[in-house]
Amino acid sequence: MQIKDTAAIVTGGASGLGGAAAKALAAKGARVFAFDLAASIEKAEEIEGVTYVEADVTDGAALRTAVDQASSSDVPLRIVVNCAGIGPSARILSKNGTHDLDLFQKVVNINLVGTFNVMTLAAEAIANTEPLEDGQRGVVINTASVAAIEGQIGQIAYSASKGGVVGMTVPAARDLASQGIRVMTIAPGIIDTPMLATVSDEFRAGLASGVPFPKRLGRPDEYGQLAVDIVEHDYLNGDVIRLDGSLRMAPR
Ligand SMILES: NC(=O)c1ccc[n+]([C@@H]2O[C@H](COP(=O)([O-])OP(=O)(O)OC[C@H]3O[C@@H](n4cnc5c(N)ncnc54)[C@H](O)[C@@H]3O)[C@@H](O)[C@H]2O)c1
Repeated sequence: MQIKDTAAIVTGGASGLGGAAAKALAAKGARVFAFDLAASIEKAEEIEGVTYVEADVTDGAALRTAVDQASSSDVPLRIVVNCAGIGPSARILSKNGTHDLDLFQKVVNINLVGTFNVMTLAAEAIANTEPLEDGQRGVVINTASVAAIEGQIGQIAYSASKGGVVGMTVPAARDLASQGIRVMTIAPGIIDTPMLATVSDEFRAGLASGVPFPKRLGRPDEYGQLAVDIVEHDYLNGDVIRLDGSLRMAPR
């Protein structure tokens, strides 16, 4: 599908992978609506073609307003990239007691329910657009993680949420096939984004040494490139692509 002259929603679009996807899609001529929290938008770089919209993916009413804004520009909404997410660490049992249930629910609510929420509202808007010649109307790209498959110690809530994103891929692609909407999931390994900003250089080097090849962390622009490739490749649908340099996470 051609990216030029389409509108795109990118959640978590003010930082990291979402920021890179927003930039890559805007460079290809999309009108990008980057949904994010106010605190992240304040720090975001200005990018031509990218409009920042304050929207919490767990807030149904705010999200509907934001999707309405993205679908009422003069080009049709055809692209959604879901990147909003959080990744706190906590074990099922630790010396402080059991995993906090509120924290578990919060992670699942943002990473999984938020992704579902955006996909659903945006799919409704995309389904109302005129189809292209081949019947296609749009593409949804969700972001899981390799932690969906091999979560590390302390990633129980994060892995559960990302496993849910992987699990939605095939039924979502099937549900939306009759509207001509493809659904794909990217499962990144370790990408050098603000999510990793707090770790030391030594820890970062340790992470990089575990990647078979290329022996480095992934770059956000490589995620942006893959998002563009998925939109442009019409036969990619209902699948999960790992973006990880062949990394398989160890227990810790
Ligand atoms: N960086 C990695 O190595 C990596 C690896 C695997 C998966 N991921 C996933 O990629 C996605 C992006 O991660 P990132 O590394 O770019 O992190 P990031 O922290 O740089 O960006 C995440 C963005 O999501 C936004 N966000 C958080 N909660 C939100 C909410 N309720 N509503 C709207 N926006 C919200 C944040 O404000 C932030 O701008 C996440 O889903 C993350 O789990 C990242």
